[in-house]
Amino acid sequence: MRSINRREFLGGTVAVLGVASLRHPIWALAANSAAASPNPLLLGVDYYPDQTPEALWDEDARMIAEFGFTNVRIAEFAWALMEPSEGKFDFAWLGRAVQTLHKQNIAVILGTPSAAPPPWLTAKYPEIVEVNAQGAPLHPGGRRFTCPTNKTYRRLSLTIADEMARTFADTPGVIGWQIDNEFTLGSSPRCYCSHCQAGFQDWLRSKYGSLDNLNRTWGTVFWSQSYSDFSQIPVPLPSGGDPNPGLALDYNRYQSYANASYLEEQLAVLRKICPRHFVTTNNIGAPYDMIDMRSLYANLDFVAFDNYPGFFEMLLHEQSRSAPVSWDYIYAATALGHDFARSIHGKPFMIMEEQSGKAGQRTFSPQPEKGQVRMWTYQAIAHGAMGVNYFRWDTATFGAEEYWHGILNHDRSKSPSFDEIKQTVKELKALGPEVLTASYPAETALIFDYDCDWALQIQPGHSALSYATQVTSWYGAIASNHSGIDIIAPGTDLAAYKIVFAPVVYLLSEAQAARIRSFVQNGGVFVTNFRLGAKNETSQMSRTPLPGLVRDVMGVTVEDYVPIYSAKQGVKFSSTLAGADAESGIWADILQPVTAKVLGTYTSGAHAGRAAITMNTFGKGRAVYIGADLDPASLTRVLRSFAASAGVKQALDVPAGVEVTVRSSGSKQWTFLLNHTDTVQTVNIPGPHTDLLSGEPQTRSVSLSAYGVRVLQAS
Ligand code: GLA
Ligand code: ZN
Repeated sequence: MRSINRREFLGGTVAVLGVASLRHPIWALAANSAAASPNPLLLGVDYYPDQTPEALWDEDARMIAEFGFTNVRIAEFAWALMEPSEGKFDFAWLGRAVQTLHKQNIAVILGTPSAAPPPWLTAKYPEIVEVNAQGAPLHPGGRRFTCPTNKTYRRLSLTIADEMARTFADTPGVIGWQIDNEFTLGSSPRCYCSHCQAGFQDWLRSKYGSLDNLNRTWGTVFWSQSYSDFSQIPVPLPSGGDPNPGLALDYNRYQSYANASYLEEQLAVLRKICPRHFVTTNNIGAPYDMIDMRSLYANLDFVAFDNYPGFFEMLLHEQSRSAPVSWDYIYAATALGHDFARSIHGKPFMIMEEQSGKAGQRTFSPQPEKGQVRMWTYQAIAHGAMGVNYFRWDTATFGAEEYWHGILNHDRSKSPSFDEIKQTVKELKALGPEVLTASYPAETALIFDYDCDWALQIQPGHSALSYATQVTSWYGAIASNHSGIDIIAPGTDLAAYKIVFAPVVYLLSEAQAARIRSFVQNGGVFVTNFRLGAKNETSQMSRTPLPGLVRDVMGVTVEDYVPIYSAKQGVKFSSTLAGADAESGIWADILQPVTAKVLGTYTSGAHAGRAAITMNTFGKGRAVYIGADLDPASLTRVLRSFAASAGVKQALDVPAGVEVTVRSSGSKQWTFLLNHTDTVQTVNIPGPHTDLLSGEPQTRSVSLSAYGVRVLQAS
């Protein structure tokens, strides 16, 4: 039998492609010089031997290999089989599954099973369940119902991870780990139990040092909440009135920390016992996330996340019950998830679960259109993915996800996506490793700040004001420029970018204000909108006129801030931004220019004639304040005009519904054209290119079939 232990896997002896340019400190060490520290190209499938009769494993492994997949992820929910009773472990079955796969040269990513504790555990330790935001304990029977703080649950999770790690540290075929599964999924993303309360109090002790400091920072004198002992501090459960905003924001931060530190415990064990394996986790795509993904992935080897565009569309549609959700929005939201994942480490990422068919639990989304799964795969690659695993190999005939369709149907026949995914895997292998690890140049940044997101969830000011929605709309508007965008944390150095977009900077710290000031001073273009600097990072309102700490940079004073319900607020643009009048949706900041120039004016209502959009020259740069909540078309026009004026290059001019991205390595460039529509599209290109997928030369124009993809390289 040909061995594919990790080293050989990395050495490229099997159907994987060496990937040279990534630096993953721990496992690169093991990859030795002969392999020039390559990582595998991960093109695989999520597989459930635990849910499949053992008599079928051979056939599955053979078919998976024949399909062209290089890896599977397995075992992430199989705790009950691995530890049938406390302290009694049985990994024999999993060992046989790994061996069966290994015989077919399929590498294995093992999942630690802590997202689904077995019934013996919850029967013996009922205190480990999560308590939801209404104070009600969750019940066993589903998954993701456990507390991230509870010491017993941490100990038991660590024990099973430790036993698994010891068992499989040197097992041929095993290459890496996924810790837990989708930390933020679940009906109640945060826990409010007494263990979390105690954990929160400890966390506050170390954050604030003294109660005086904490009482002052939160303003606990309001409603008689001054604490005289840390043990009195509550968690934000229903209390006859809203919680203190500072406490509530800190509680979000604590819950994020609790989940990340829970992951870190398992990570430490895996690092110690399996130094040659990579370690990651999967999460739902940003920014729809309750945990700060940047801290969750801080010490993992690469970012991996789960991508279900068709399912997402169904969810949005179910929520709105209105007209079909526009595919523009889905594709922007999906692209934003990819850009966020890449930007966390500034390195290629992996899709751990890619939608492969009909998807859902009680209800399900339809079979993706022909070509769409392939196009989603390329969309991930186009934004910086180095590998994609599809969810899932076969379709479960029992359990809560009988409707979540895989590559095989319930009767094990080929699903409608079977041939398409097989073809895609073949193409990606032929495309080669260089493009999959190439970098993704971006001159534009969009700030995503979890603190602003969480603080706005606590006090949106307007029920329709959502940070995630604002960021997604801004992303969609900017992305229509078809130039690279990094999604950055507020603490990121801005100097690398020509233009920085930052919607709803509701919380503004002094450090962040200083970064914005120096960015603009040195020639950057900073574009932001309403609610700028309304609060500081402790969630106290600004004590200086808005926009508070950056009033000089923006060159305006906010005279009033207006949530809009029924009355509409029209906006007229000056010649610089010439275009049809707009309507401000849910918000209007009324601006009084100090040194800034007015680029847009309110036209109706009490604020008619007042400034709605301003631009200030500050140092060598410019700072733009968009006080109005512009409709999508106006927002797109306005944001794109600022990108153009900042000198951001548009990759290509393409029809609506076609997406363009560029990856590059040295002097090489790959231009991805993705057709998100169901009709043929034509794109004009500047000179002779080759489509690396079809091998066809392309001269002046390229045609894209419905959901078609081209990967062009200049020839
Ligand atoms: C998630 C989970 C999987 C599975 C799929 C489909 O992303 O990680 O376990 O539930 O979605 O529901
Ligand atoms: Zn808890």
